[in-house]
Amino acid sequence: MNAPTIALETLDITDTDRYLTRGYPWAEWDLLRREAPVYWYERPHHEPFWAITKHEDVRFISRHPELFSNTQLLRMTDSESVQIGQRGRVRAANRFGGSPDDPPDFVFMDPPEHRTHRGLVSRHFTPRVMKRLEDHFGAMAENYVSRFADVVANDLAEKGSQSAVDLVHTLSAKLPVAAICEMAGVPEEDWDQIFHWTETLVGAADPEYQAPGESREQTLRRSGDEWTRYNEALVERRQREGLGPDLLSSLLSGDVDGRSLSPREISAYFTLLLAAGNETTRNSITGGVKALLDHPEELERLVADPSLVPLAVEEILRWTSIVIQFQRTAVEDVELRGKTIRQGDSVVMWYPSANRDEDVFPDPYRFDIGRDPNDHFAFGGYGEHFCLGANLARWEMRAILHALIPVLPRLELAGEPELVPRSLHVGGIKRMLVRARAV
Ligand code: HEM
Repeated sequence: MNAPTIALETLDITDTDRYLTRGYPWAEWDLLRREAPVYWYERPHHEPFWAITKHEDVRFISRHPELFSNTQLLRMTDSESVQIGQRGRVRAANRFGGSPDDPPDFVFMDPPEHRTHRGLVSRHFTPRVMKRLEDHFGAMAENYVSRFADVVANDLAEKGSQSAVDLVHTLSAKLPVAAICEMAGVPEEDWDQIFHWTETLVGAADPEYQAPGESREQTLRRSGDEWTRYNEALVERRQREGLGPDLLSSLLSGDVDGRSLSPREISAYFTLLLAAGNETTRNSITGGVKALLDHPEELERLVADPSLVPLAVEEILRWTSIVIQFQRTAVEDVELRGKTIRQGDSVVMWYPSANRDEDVFPDPYRFDIGRDPNDHFAFGGYGEHFCLGANLARWEMRAILHALIPVLPRLELAGEPELVPRSLHVGGIKRMLVRARAV
């Protein structure tokens, strides 16, 4: 059967059902890059925006925060989510004080304010700090992978050809939660609960996370309230027991322009770090395992030469491009590739498209674990808001991949991955069943 013809006027890159059933709209992004890399995208159910699909333009926009602001909309989403977000801000203001128009966290700020706020925690994420944690992450990864391998082996012994173990919950989610919780000084007995909250807050549109009779907004509220109460108790305990060298203590002791952070800011920053760190890394690990199982020749290369792990991680990041898009608002009129982006217009940067840009990546649809250079934008376009946790995510992924090398050749998929529905921001994998090959 011939693939349906795609036309600029009708192509769809925002339909979340499409992402769920058919995956990322690669062919649509290819067409946009080729014929309309700066494209005014106007469709029902969404506010119009400029779709930016080329690597060079994503870089330009990311590096010019004075032209493209973060203070308004941050990501392209449906109008229901925008309204839920606005009501959430009113509730937060009623609870903690301040105004619903205050930026929820530092992602919504522009320089110089952004840099001051980000600076409160950035020293916890430098390459030097990560390097110091390398052995520790390595040991944790070995431990998680060894437990995962036991579960897989026992499941095979018990169920034979019906064996199916969910990689996401048995392995991928473990290290990302553990690493960020450890850095923040969260007690280990609470890590599973923290993971559950982030999963629910990100996947609230999915009936699986909703209590019976609950709407998406009610689910968000319930888990948001539970998380806030937990957070307040943790802050209170840390203040009582004394501050330490951890992330949360940095937020509590930090000052911006001579004032301490408000309780609302502390709660929001902490939530940001946990949410941003958990979902993304977990999905990149799961997507990386899938990519290697789908490309046995690349897996063989990795097994034969484990020194390829750092390059393989970069290729996995490019290949999976877990973060789909971020949005900016033009501060003034800007000319880009002959189009005039008007002051106040939204621009949306599609990172997976930039990561398949044939002007930057030779043979972009080839998964090549030795690709070098690999100037991907999985963590953003190297601008003001470049991923704060990029070094952390890289070290976690390297540690897990390294520990998985002896296990992967004996593993196979036990079905198609189940994707997180209604997600246009992170291409989430909810469950991915794997099993040991019978020998
Ligand atoms: C593979 C894993 C990850 C991916 C693919 C990823 C991707 C991204 C992307 C695309 C951005 C937006 C960049 C921009 O606007 O220019 C971002 C921002 C951010 N990420 Fe990550 N991220 C990952 C892991 C993490 C981790 C582990 C943390 C831990 C704290 C984290 C914290 C953040 C924060 C706080 C921001 C906002 C930075 C700012 O606005 O200044 N991320 N990330």
